[in-house]
Amino acid sequence: MFFLVLFGARASFGASETHQYVGAVKCGSCHEAEYQAWLSGPHAKAHESLSAEQLNDAKCNTCHTLLPFNSDKRFQGVQCEQCHGAGKVYHKDYVMRDKELARAVGLIVPKAAHCQGCHTADSPNIKPFDFDELWLRITHGPKHKKEDKSAHIKP
Ligand code: HEC
Ligand code: HEC
Ligand code: HEC
Ligand code: HEC
Repeated sequence: MFFLVLFGARASFGASETHQYVGAVKCGSCHEAEYQAWLSGPHAKAHESLSAEQLNDAKCNTCHTLLPFNSDKRFQGVQCEQCHGAGKVYHKDYVMRDKELARAVGLIVPKAAHCQGCHTADSPNIKPFDFDELWLRITHGPKHKKEDKSAHIKP
């Protein structure tokens, strides 16, 4: 599966990889509402569930943080770019305004299946993955109003 290949198999974090990311604060400089929703949700704090040792262990850090602790603190937690793709190229204003161009250079608008790259059967939750329920708790973006359930994206 796409995300397992992308994240699950990642064993180390090289400098070149760091340079593909801009970090959530940068995204938030234009997407203030999305940034605030993220900041108050579970993903921004996902690295806090791991000990310092676990943060540098590929068995844990692939799903809990964009980059491990000893690298730049701007890249902590499950970040925008773990769902929307590394933003180095697409985060520029003129690219973002061109939906096709943005996608061509890496922007991902994720579907339910993307969540399950990390929310696997092994993750510590007794309940099976329920997209509608989980998405409501992290919902963001202009098309999605918290009170409007009909605005849910399709799996
Ligand atoms: C310089 C300002 C700016 C920055 C920085 C920025 N964006 Fe955007 N973004 C925009 C604009 C403008 C749009 C287009 C909005 C529209 O069409 O209504 C957009 C659109 C989007 C969309 C919707 C795309 C679509 O085609 O449906 C997503 C998702 C997104 N941005 C995510 C991100 C992420 C993640 C980051 C950080 C890596 C980021 N943006 C950084 C300005 C920015
Ligand atoms: C395949 C992705 C993945 C990997 C690898 C992973 N986790 Fe998690 N972890 C998750 C997800 C997803 C959740 C949230 C589950 C939920 O509440 O639905 C989670 C939640 C947790 C929590 C919070 C549990 C709670 O009850 O709130 C802890 C602690 C945790 N993980 C520790 C670890 C440790 C330690 C490792 C390494 C041995 C690890 N994780 C590896 C995906 C992962
Ligand atoms: C856990 C995965 C995840 C994270 C983390 C995440 N997003 Fe999203 N984002 C989504 C999903 C799923 C959608 C809904 C896509 C759709 O409407 O089809 C979305 C929608 C959006 C949209 C609206 C797209 C549109 O066309 O309406 C923007 C803008 C956006 N996200 C920006 C961000 C920013 C900025 C961050 C970080 C501060 C962020 N996202 C973090 C998964 C994520
Ligand atoms: C890169 C890995 C990753 C991806 C992709 C991801 N998540 Fe998560 N998610 C996590 C981790 C790790 C946690 C646990 C945070 C913690 O340590 O408490 C979590 C926790 C959550 C929680 C809180 C669950 C609880 O029981 O407290 C919700 C809700 C959630 N995720 C929704 C989603 C949705 C919806 C998507 C897809 C749009 C998604 N996630 C994609 C890694 C991920």
